Amino acid sequence: MPLLKWYDIYSVDNETLDSQNRMLFDLFKRLYDICMHNRDDIEYLPVLDELLEYTAHHFLSEEKYMQEKGYPDITGHVQLHNEFARNIIVLKYTYEFKNIELCLDLILLIVNWIHDHIIGEDKKFADYVKSSR
Ligand SMILES: [Fe+2]
Repeated sequence: MPLLKWYDIYSVDNETLDSQNRMLFDLFKRLYDICMHNRDDIEYLPVLDELLEYTAHHFLSEEKYMQEKGYPDITGHVQLHNEFARNIIVLKYTYEFKNIELCLDLILLIVNWIHDHIIGEDKKFADYVKSSR
């Protein structure tokens, strides 16, 4: 699935955060595969749970890092994290059974997140850290 692949452009110059973000790409590929092959309900729910675990763990690490570095726009950034996690939870509980809408919504949510948040918002704190060295 060549649609989403990790490139250096996604890097925030922090190995731990980058490796956590690589996990998001892997989770996305698994979800995409389940959706495209119309697999059973039972297969996508654990991946959604992993996605929620990823958000909890990664966002906490990233927020701690921003705090340590004195990133001034942390409050707005945390709100975006919370909103993303909330959207995943809503999707999980809105669609009890797998259907095409869930797949499309999830794929769009994650693709938009990678392009808007990781490249847009996460880059801002990476640039801030770089400029304050
Ligand atoms: Fe972030």
